[in-house]
Amino acid sequence: MTKVALLGTGIMGAAMARNLAKAGLDVTVWNRTRARAEPLEADGATVADAPVDAVRGAGVVITMLNDGDAVLAVMKDAAPGLAEGQVWAQMSTVGVAAVAPLAALAAEHGVTFVDAPVQGTKQPAEQGTLLVLAAGSPDARPVLEPVFGAVGQKTLWLGEDGAAGAGSRLKLAAISYALSLTAIIGEGVGLAEALGVDPARFAEVITGGPLDSGYFQAKLAAITGDDFAPSFTVDNAMTVTRLIAEAAESAGLHVDVVDAAHARFDRAARRGHGDQDMAAAYFAGPVG
Ligand SMILES: NC(=O)c1ccc[n+]([C@@H]2O[C@H](COP(=O)([O-])OP(=O)(O)OC[C@H]3O[C@@H](n4cnc5c(N)ncnc54)[C@H](OP(=O)(O)O)[C@@H]3O)[C@@H](O)[C@H]2O)c1
Repeated sequence: MTKVALLGTGIMGAAMARNLAKAGLDVTVWNRTRARAEPLEADGATVADAPVDAVRGAGVVITMLNDGDAVLAVMKDAAPGLAEGQVWAQMSTVGVAAVAPLAALAAEHGVTFVDAPVQGTKQPAEQGTLLVLAAGSPDARPVLEPVFGAVGQKTLWLGEDGAAGAGSRLKLAAISYALSLTAIIGEGVGLAEALGVDPARFAEVITGGPLDSGYFQAKLAAITGDDFAPSFTVDNAMTVTRLIAEAAESAGLHVDVVDAAHARFDRAARRGHGDQDMAAAYFAGPVG
């Protein structure tokens, strides 16, 4: 049985750990805030006190933390427990620049680094239907097959060199669409309201037409139903829009729409909505 260490049991990591345990894998989890990991004991996971304890003896290590700095810090703590031949699936969204230092840390310890961010939010994570965007050595694929199979419905293998970050590059392109769309939906509802239009009429115009989408319906329902329980927080949306802007700048590209989405997430966070779902970018609208 593959022994899996999962570091970071936030919205995504907790759901992924549950599916790994449900698939019969031997799962040890660690989270900075231990209380957030403890409920996973009821699902059959073991909760470790420190990253180093979680990774010791694991065949596969998964990181699912906020950003590259957090992943690097946690994996440095874990390093004394790493061993030659382990596979590290880095599944957080870390942008492009952070991938190489993480891969270098893995190489220092003889660990195979697989760049493997995921597409899909809380519900697909709970249902085990994420899309894994993976790049790394073909030698790592057999050991990762049951792991990715438990958390996702499909894995796209994008390259053989994890350090090159092909998964993270595709992830940024895909998430830029979702983040921009979320900001636009909130702005559209806010604009309707500010112009004295019933948001239900705005929804009626879009629904069923070529501009409709599952995303439109989900975020519209969150806004009009005043339900901002987080699938993806405003704070994390701020982080990822910043990562996209940094990657675009390195590539010599303007990303004006992502910059505007970042400004809206930032304003919503400053208005106290940082830990709510990113649909709360809606609150960034009113001037003042
Ligand atoms: N939610 C989504 O829809 C979604 C979808 C695809 C990818 N992602 C990506 O997946 C990653 C996790 O997202 P999430 O939604 O699960 O976020 P989350 O609920 O905010 O969880 C973040 C996790 O990172 C930990 N963490 C943050 N900073 C840390 C630090 N400095 N040291 C140690 N641990 C730290 C948190 O620990 P504490 O509990 O102690 O705060 C928590 O376990 C992010 O990279 C995100 O962009 C998210």
